[in-house]
Amino acid sequence: MNAFEAEGLVKRFGKTTALAGIDLAARQGSVLAVLGPNGAGKTTAVRILATLLRADAGSATVGGLDVVRHAARVRRLIGLTGQYASVDEDLTGRENLVLIARLLDLPGNQAKQRAAELLTEFGLDAAADRRCKTYSGGMRRRLDLAASLVGRPDVIFLDEPTTGLDPAKREDVWTIVRDLVEDGVTVLLTTQYLEEADALADDISVIDHGKVIAHGSPAQLKRIVGGQTALVRPADPERLPEAESILARLSGRRPERPGRGVVTVPVDGDAAFAEIVAALAASGITAAELSLHLPSLDEVFFTLTGQREAAA
Ligand SMILES: Nc1ncnc2c1ncn2[C@@H]1O[C@H](COP(=O)(O)OP(=O)(O)OP(=O)(O)O)[C@@H](O)[C@H]1O
Ligand SMILES: [Mg+2]
Repeated sequence: MNAFEAEGLVKRFGKTTALAGIDLAARQGSVLAVLGPNGAGKTTAVRILATLLRADAGSATVGGLDVVRHAARVRRLIGLTGQYASVDEDLTGRENLVLIARLLDLPGNQAKQRAAELLTEFGLDAAADRRCKTYSGGMRRRLDLAASLVGRPDVIFLDEPTTGLDPAKREDVWTIVRDLVEDGVTVLLTTQYLEEADALADDISVIDHGKVIAHGSPAQLKRIVGGQTALVRPADPERLPEAESILARLSGRRPERPGRGVVTVPVDGDAAFAEIVAALAASGITAAELSLHLPSLDEVFFTLTGQREAAA
């Protein structure tokens, strides 16, 4: 059974069609990344799944429960971290977590215990008794994530959990997400960062203008753009033209020079790459760099949405 599922979701705000009929689903214990540019409909979809907003058409379930008919039960299964941090600025980190635990009906001592556990888990012990208004952006994000986990949810919705974080803090959040998944939690993650989807997701749904325009594993999506690319950087830059003609001859395509001293060409598979390696060796061209790689998700995204600015 899928941990959550949405089918044909439509949502309009006045004249704006935020969702034009989208399907989303994730197996239990997997990570689905919903990738899309600003205004694509990511937050709207998350809010519908999290019972905060009603769709105009279509249906959604979490843990097999309809999000409209069984909203209260669904809320007990889920944790939500919104796009904008939602902690109370005037309370300390600990007070925020205890408050949420009390709202979830945990008795006082258990609420304190759960708060203490999460503060430790999220590296917030030292800051636990400071008011949140003194927290850095990264600390707020971590507290926000901790807050969404107080009730030990089966499914967690993370709406752009790392937007605005520096790379080290982003890695911290990734580690937390991986740990959750290891414990069997299912995660829906929205993001504008392709490398984040690549790093975390089992499956990716790319959405644009309220529609799913592509779905698959990161590797499957990369194949949409085409096969693999061989890259050669001769140790001796003088031999670049020779390397280039070898690549042209063996691939039957026109090589490109994407940077100084390197030449690349699309290839159809491992065998073609092996021939390139052999031909370079036979000509006595030593390579400082020699690789076969899939296109990056960035290239996929640009190809799909035609929106270069989306990755900015
Ligand atoms: N409450 C609302 N009232 C009116 N329009 C809305 C409302 N919420 C969302 N929209 C519109 O619906 C569309 C989808 O918005 P949504 O917030 O779901 O996009 P998003 O993919 O989350 O974007 P971002 O990456 O900027 O967070 C946008 O055109 C937005 O302006
Ligand atoms: Mg959003």
